[in-house]
Amino acid sequence: MIPVHVAIIMDGNGRWARQKSLPRIFGHKQGVETIKKIIKAASNLGIKVLTLYAFSTENWKRPVKEIEALFSLLNIFIREESKELDDLGVCLRILGDLSKFPCNIKTEVEYICKITSKNTGLQLNIALNYGARQELVHAFGKMLECGIENPTEEIVSSFLYTAGQSDPDLLIRTSGEFRISNFLLWQIAYSEIYVTDKLWPDFTKRDLEDAILEFQKRERRFGGLIESNID
Ligand code: IPE
Ligand code: IPE
Ligand code: MG
Repeated sequence: MIPVHVAIIMDGNGRWARQKSLPRIFGHKQGVETIKKIIKAASNLGIKVLTLYAFSTENWKRPVKEIEALFSLLNIFIREESKELDDLGVCLRILGDLSKFPCNIKTEVEYICKITSKNTGLQLNIALNYGARQELVHAFGKMLECGIENPTEEIVSSFLYTAGQSDPDLLIRTSGEFRISNFLLWQIAYSEIYVTDKLWPDFTKRDLEDAILEFQKRERRFGGLIESNID
């Protein structure tokens, strides 16, 4: 079975650039090319939801120059890819707090989310200024505002940025790091985790297919037992 929801921690742009003795921004630029390819690949493979971790709440700790370069790449991506994404039938949603973003980028991002909101193809989530702890605090605040006194798991889920979507079946992290880095802490409770040494700019459709093949070999038990293991 093809995983319904694939989430990716796109890591390793800086290392990719360093390996080539280039400034880090070149790694980010190449990383955007990978994003474009993987969106198409996911759509062709029949993945329903693709969530890409692009900028974390902790990434503000980076040098201003790098942050500005990342915003500029985001701006170019939105401007150049909006039509193509819409033509592909992609429905775009941003996970994260956009209020800290430069006004022009925020407006453009919100505009593309609005025009693609009725599309029925790939659901593409881009996590921007996203942190799972921030998301939970935000959700709890909203629940209090709504006067919810007896929250259930379903209610909490419905206040997250991923409201209405299924949880990731497969979580991929590139560049060999075995950590979550504050990504989707609630939603990945039962995701299968796949870590590859490939740096994000080098990640290909083939690598995505390899991750899916590995996923297909996993036995998902969700805390229960499979038939053959029952006495
Ligand atoms: C991932 O690549 C992109 C972002 C976090 C924005 P990194 O920039 O973290 O690359 P490394 O980990 O330094 O190689
Ligand atoms: C995770 O990568 C965040 C994104 C991919 C956007 P980082 O490079 O920020 O994570 P750490 O610092 O290695 O944990
Ligand atoms: Mg990194």
